[in-house]
Amino acid sequence: MQPYSGPADRNKEPILEVISDILMASKRVLEVGSGTGQHALYFSEQMPHLTWLPSDFAEGYDVLRAQFEQNSRTNVAAPIELDVRNIPWDSCLTDHVIDLVYTANTLHIMSWAAVETFFAGIEQVLGKEGFLVVYGPFKYNGDFTTPSNAQFDQWLKNRDPVSGVRDFEAVNALAESIGLVLQNDCAMPANNQCLIWRRSL
Ligand SMILES: C[S@@+](CC[C@H](N)C(=O)[O-])C[C@H]1O[C@@H](n2cnc3c(N)ncnc32)[C@H](O)[C@@H]1O
Repeated sequence: MQPYSGPADRNKEPILEVISDILMASKRVLEVGSGTGQHALYFSEQMPHLTWLPSDFAEGYDVLRAQFEQNSRTNVAAPIELDVRNIPWDSCLTDHVIDLVYTANTLHIMSWAAVETFFAGIEQVLGKEGFLVVYGPFKYNGDFTTPSNAQFDQWLKNRDPVSGVRDFEAVNALAESIGLVLQNDCAMPANNQCLIWRRSL
C-alpha cells in the first residue's frame, strides 16, 4: 500500500501558496523528516526545475524509501537517511549548495535537543542567502494560539514527554544564532504556522 498521511495531503496546497516564490527561486531543496514523502512528490511535480532531496531518520526511513520505490520522479533524489541529531549531517549534503531546507510537522515531534542540532546541521549545509521553511504549530509568548493546540501539546507529551509544541521565540533565537532572519510568519489552516527565514551572511 502507498504511504499516505491525511494532514500532508490537506496542507500541501496551502503551503505551496505561501512558498511558491521561494521554490521558484530555489534549485536544490533538502527536506528534513519527509515522512510519507507526499510533500516531496507534490512540490517536485509543481516545480519541475528544482531537485528535491527527501530524508528521514531510521525510524521513518523505510516508509519514505517505499514511497519512492513506487513513485520515482526525475527531479527527486534517492531518499537520504538523515537523523538531525547526528552532526555533521551526511557529507553528500555539504558537496552541493542547498538553497532551501524545508520541514513540516517535525519540530514538535523531535526533542528540544534535536531541534538545536537541526539548526546546527542547517548552519553547515544551507547556502548563503538560502531559505528555511518550517511548517507546524507554535506557541507565542508562552501561549498556545488555540485551545486545540494546547490539547494537541498534551497529547504529544503523553505519547512522548520530550516532544511538544515549540515556542516561536526560542526557535527564532536558534535561527538567528546561525544568521537566519525571519522573512514571514503566516497563519495557516488547522492552527499551524508557516515560518520562513533567509540566511544573511
Ligand atoms: C508528524 S511526521 C511529519 C512527516 C512529514 N513531514 C509530513 O508533513 O507529513 C514527523 C516526522 O519527523 C521525523 N523525525 C522525528 N525525529 C527525527 C530526527 N531526529 N531526525 C529526522 N527526522 C525526524 C519522523 O520520522 C517523521 O517523519
